[in-house]
Amino acid sequence: MDKICCVILAAGVGKRMGGDLPKALTQTREKALIDHVLFGLAPLKPSKTVIVVGHRRELLEEHLRNSPSAHGHSIEYVLQEQQLGTGDAVRAALPALASFQGTVILTYADHPLFTPETLKHLLEFHSFKRATLSMLSFQAPPPNGYGRIIRAGASAQVVRITEARDCSPEELLISEVNSGFYAVDSAFLKPAVEGLSNKNSQGEYYLTDIVEKAAKEGQTVVAFPLSEAEEAAGVNSPADLARINAVLARREILKLAESGVIFDDPHTCYLDATVTIAAGARIGPNVQLRGMTSIGSSVLIEGSSLIIDATIAANVVIKFGSRLEQCSVGDGSSVGPFANLRAGTVLAQEVRIGNFVETKNVTLQAGAKASHLSYLGDCSVGEGANIGAGTITCNYDGYNKAHSIIGKNAFIGSNSCLVAPVTVGEGALVAAGSVITRDVPKDALGLGRAKQENKEGWAKLRREQREDKKGR
Ligand code: UD1
Ligand code: MG
Repeated sequence: MDKICCVILAAGVGKRMGGDLPKALTQTREKALIDHVLFGLAPLKPSKTVIVVGHRRELLEEHLRNSPSAHGHSIEYVLQEQQLGTGDAVRAALPALASFQGTVILTYADHPLFTPETLKHLLEFHSFKRATLSMLSFQAPPPNGYGRIIRAGASAQVVRITEARDCSPEELLISEVNSGFYAVDSAFLKPAVEGLSNKNSQGEYYLTDIVEKAAKEGQTVVAFPLSEAEEAAGVNSPADLARINAVLARREILKLAESGVIFDDPHTCYLDATVTIAAGARIGPNVQLRGMTSIGSSVLIEGSSLIIDATIAANVVIKFGSRLEQCSVGDGSSVGPFANLRAGTVLAQEVRIGNFVETKNVTLQAGAKASHLSYLGDCSVGEGANIGAGTITCNYDGYNKAHSIIGKNAFIGSNSCLVAPVTVGEGALVAAGSVITRDVPKDALGLGRAKQENKEGWAKLRREQREDKKGR
C-alpha cells in the first residue's frame, strides 16, 4: 500500500456549539473531538499528520502537547488565517505536503466515532479500485445538513457532492451523504484544491468540489458506503453531541462486557471512561461509576449505587442504593444497602457496613462491623470491633473536629454516643445507650447512662387510678 499522510481540518470555531473554543476542542464525555480523531488515525501509521488550525490555535496546540492522543503522530500544524471553507483549509495544508507522494487521508475534526478498521477498509478499497479519490458515504436517516452524493449514468458513478444549502429540492431527497473521510492521490489533490472556486450559496471554498473535478477529468472516483452509519456521525450541534456521547457510553460498556464484566441492564448504567472493572464483576441496574473508580474481580454491585473515585477490591458486595466517594473497600467486605461512605473511608478486608450507616474519614480494620444506623466520623476502628445499631461518634463540637479510637474486638452497645476525643480500649465493652466522654480502658465496661430504678407495682397502680376516674 501507498505511503499515507493525514490532514485534519480543525480551524473552525464551534459557533453552532455555542462557544468560542476551537470546535475540535469540544469535549465529549471522555475526551476532546480532536483526541478521538488522532486515536482513530494512529493505527494507519501516517508518515505525517497535518493539522489545520485557525481560531485560537494556541489552545488546540497546548491541548495536544499534553494529550496522549498525539503519540504515534508526527504532527505539523499549519495555519488557515481565515476560515474560508474546507477547501481553503486543505489549501493551507498543501505546503506541508509539498514533498509527499502517496495517499492523503483527509478528515474533519468533528467526527469522533469512526474506527481504524473502517479507514483501513477505505484504503484497501481505494487501492483495489485504483481510484484517484475514494470517500466514505452513509445513509443518513434524515440527511439534514450533510453533503449529498450525486450519482449518474447506468453504473451510478459518483459525479459530485452537493452541499445541502446548494441542493435542488430533488437532490435534497437523496439520503446517501458525505461522511467527510477521503483518500486522495496526492498528485491529483494539489492542483485540484488550488483550482477551487467559492461560487456557491455560502461563498466558501468547498473541499467537496474536488469530487466533481476528478469525475469530469475521467479519474476513478468511488464512494464506499458504510454499513454502520453511526460511525459517520459528525458534531455540528449540542444535539449531535448528546447522540455521540450516548454512543461512546454504550461502546465503553460493550468493551467491558467483552472483557468479561457482567451488566444486568447496560442501558441504565453510566460509566466514565476512566473507570476500570475486572472480569467477573457484576454490575446491577442503574449504577453510576465515576472518575478514577476501580472495581475488582467477583465484585457484585446490586444496583442504584453511585461510586466516585473509589477503589473496590475483589469479592466485595455493594448492596442496593449505596453511595461511595473517595474511599477504599477491602477484599470480601460488604456495604449497604443504603450506606453512605464519604471521603477518607478505608475499609480493610471482610468489614461489614450495613444499612443507613454513614462514614467519613474513618478506618475500619479487618472484620470490624457497623451493621445498622450509625455515624462514624474521624475515627479508627480496630480489628473485629462491633459497632452497635445507632452508634454515633460525636466528632464535632461546633468549632473543631476530634478523633475517636475504638480498639480491637471492642463492643459498642446500641445507641451509644462517643464524644471525641475518646478512646475505647481493646476488648472493652460500652453499655447500650451510653454517652461516653472519658476513655474506657482495655477490657473494661464503660457505662454512661442513668442507673435504672424499678418501682414495684407502680404501673398497675396508675392504671387502676385512671380506670377509677373514668368510672366516676
Ligand atoms: C462538511 C462537508 C459535507 C459533509 C459534512 C460531514 C464541505 C464543504 N462539506 O460539512 O459535505 O457531509 O462535513 O460532516 O466540506 N474547517 C476548517 N476551516 C474552514 C471550515 C471548516 O478547518 O474554513 C473545519 C471545521 O473545523 C470542521 C471541519 O472542517 O472540523 C468541517 O467543517 P464544518 O463546517 O463542520 O462542515 P460541514 O458543514 O459539517
Ligand atoms: Mg461538520
